[in-house]
Amino acid sequence: MQATLAIVKPDATRRNMVGQIIRRAEDQDLALAGIKLLRLTKRQAEGFYHVHRTNPFFDALTNFMSEGPIVVMVLRGENAIQRWRDIMGATNPAEAEAGTIRALFGENIERNSTHGSDSTESARFEIGYFFPGLDLVK
Ligand code: RTP
Ligand code: MG
Repeated sequence: MQATLAIVKPDATRRNMVGQIIRRAEDQDLALAGIKLLRLTKRQAEGFYHVHRTNPFFDALTNFMSEGPIVVMVLRGENAIQRWRDIMGATNPAEAEAGTIRALFGENIERNSTHGSDSTESARFEIGYFFPGLDLVK
């Protein structure tokens, strides 16, 4: 079993797509171990995406991630990190495989509807950023 941190981003919460996105995880046997709705401050978004702090898109990305509510989730299952990324599709919706979340719902390379951890190290950091151990179902 593995855990990953998934986020429904502000472009998708604004269009009421939370349920559709969670259903895609559950349909593929990724189970919810934690979930919350929150709105990040710019500073909190910068802390979450600190690995991107030197990228040219950092300011735009953290403005976007703090512009409206997000849903943060811990998803558990076999090979959860890679499987959730496969369900999301490529970062750029224009390049995402047909049927993936980003192909279906993403607006552009930045407003791409969902986030997923990219390694066991980032999953550990990202889950800890939002969920104290007490808030996770065992
Ligand atoms: P994420 O971290 O959100 O799951 O996405 P990812 O691994 O597929 O992509 P990553 O390279 O980690 O980029 C993080 C997020 O930054 C925005 N982005 N904008 N304007 C741009 O060229 C650009 N590139 C990336 C996207 O919101 C991307 O998901
Ligand atoms: Mg990433």
